[in-house]
Amino acid sequence: MTAIELDSELATRARINLSASSNVRVICGNGATAPFDIADVIYVNAGATRPADAWLDGLSEGGRLILPLTTNRGFGRNDPPVPIDGRGAVFRIERRSSEFLARWVSPVAIFPCEGARDPLSEEALAGAFEKGGWQQVTRLCRGNDVPEDHCWLRAPGWCLTRDLPSSGPNRPAVRMHTPPEAAAVQKQVDAIISPCVEFGLGHRLPEAESAPLWQADDELDELLGGK
Ligand SMILES: C[S@@+](CC[C@H](N)C(=O)[O-])C[C@H]1O[C@@H](n2cnc3c(N)ncnc32)[C@H](O)[C@@H]1O
Repeated sequence: MTAIELDSELATRARINLSASSNVRVICGNGATAPFDIADVIYVNAGATRPADAWLDGLSEGGRLILPLTTNRGFGRNDPPVPIDGRGAVFRIERRSSEFLARWVSPVAIFPCEGARDPLSEEALAGAFEKGGWQQVTRLCRGNDVPEDHCWLRAPGWCLTRDLPSSGPNRPAVRMHTPPEAAAVQKQVDAIISPCVEFGLGHRLPEAESAPLWQADDELDELLGGK
């Protein structure tokens, strides 16, 4: 286990307190940039406005990132008062190949994470918390390509989506048909997926994270002649 603390006094205290644990090393440094080995769990214990690249890149396959995302009201100023769940939230991010599942865990107000806050992401976060609906978040995506209407939060270089279908290996795909058949079946597949997207079927993902991403699988099996 690697523990990273910015404050040198606190890092020294942590090193002393944890000296009996031979599997722990304590680094004094910036957790948003300090190098660490690929990790199964990354637990950020300070409020960021965006995931640092090092955290997403540093996750093993199936690895989880526990990420507090806080607005500027997530610590200190809260005038006029906004309930805590409208100020910040912990999200659980899980790596699946090149994709990242995401779900809301709890509200949070927490000490800011230096080096993992930027004004544009903060503005996007504040807007998203104001409109509500954080429990519908299903994915974290990198880049700027996801259309606005799929996003709960959209900031430069990343977003949290509500209903984006997977493009990865878990997405139902039609591969075993000749092209005309494939086109027909894909149409039927899309007809199933579209209502799922419309009605936010992805919200159920947290209950079945190790299961295929889309719960339309039974219907797909039927369509594709399985079962
Ligand atoms: C909420 S406290 C958590 C303290 C401690 N980890 C614990 O669990 O009790 C947040 C801590 O994050 C540290 N911190 C803030 N930004 C950091 C960064 N970029 N890298 C490492 N530590 C950071 C602060 O110095 C502070 O000690």
